[in-house]
Amino acid sequence: MILALETSCDDTCAAVLTPDGEVRSNVISSQGIHDRYGGVVPEVASRHHLELIDAAVDDALARADTTLDDVTLVAVTRGPGLVGALLVGLSHAKGLAAARELPLAPVDHLHGHVAAGALADDAPEPPFLCLIASGGHTLLVRVDSAREVSVLGRTLDDAAGEAFDKGARTLGLPYPGGPALERLAREGDPGAFAFPIAERVGALDFSFAGLKTSLLYKVRDLGEDAARERATDLAASYQHAIVEALARRCERALAQTGLRALTLGGGVAANGPLRARVESLDAHVAIPARELCTDNAAMIGAAARAVDPLAFPSYLGLDAYPSGGSHWPPA
Ligand code: KG4
Ligand code: ZN
Repeated sequence: MILALETSCDDTCAAVLTPDGEVRSNVISSQGIHDRYGGVVPEVASRHHLELIDAAVDDALARADTTLDDVTLVAVTRGPGLVGALLVGLSHAKGLAAARELPLAPVDHLHGHVAAGALADDAPEPPFLCLIASGGHTLLVRVDSAREVSVLGRTLDDAAGEAFDKGARTLGLPYPGGPALERLAREGDPGAFAFPIAERVGALDFSFAGLKTSLLYKVRDLGEDAARERATDLAASYQHAIVEALARRCERALAQTGLRALTLGGGVAANGPLRARVESLDAHVAIPARELCTDNAAMIGAAARAVDPLAFPSYLGLDAYPSGGSHWPPA
């Protein structure tokens, strides 16, 4: 069995997979504390990981009806993410592996989001395109095999999830903003306001900073009362602009590469309107279940299958890496 840990942000996650990639358990312990601060407080996240990680691993093993005796590989997120949060998972994984002299597979978080696509029903065979849209990253990648991933486009400023979170905050919604904004938008008209959809002819890059500013100005121009009255329309129109920006790049990338299959990953891929819009594209579209889109350890276990594991004790000095966005994928 593969035991996988993921602690790159504010969810404490553990999962058990069989060696051929079948998910036996996928435990996600949301810390549920950061909303009062309007965002993730790194130091608070690290402390909560410390408190929750043992229970998450125990739960993952129990739900998979297995024990540490059956574990043959420990997989863990090495980066990118909050470095203190990553270190809790990495140290814990090293401890679990070293105690039994097991090998350890260090996994890149974004490779994890790509690998989640392989856990979708009717996952395509490579080559295919994958859109990763999370709180920290927005990337359009080409997947030629589990080990060969190349970046075709990336965000030039904010990530799509950041656009959701910041827009939600402007509308007075709690953190995390994505799910809250999606809920509010359900009652609204996506055509009520025209928000900018950044378009650069031929390009596959993204930009969301202008959109965020445009919402800020719109709310200011309407005034507090009118903005509150029109909150559902504002949310629906703003969400529509993000969904269109993402879906149109996918469409363009399919046309430019001639590829016929597409998967989605990252927290924003949990968004209902985005899922529906992308499913309507003329391609084989496979989207993992929502709990495999947002941060989870099952995707880390899935990605570990394409990583050369490090033998005991060579991994004991391994460090986490906090960033990776503009240099991704790592060498
Ligand atoms: O992949 P993820 O769980 O963590 C990171 O690696 O960042 O992504 C979190 C991001 C947050 O910005 C959150 O607001 C967004 O994904 N998100 C959503 C939805 N669920 C999570 N955005 C839009 N609609 C959702 N339903
Ligand atoms: Zn993520």
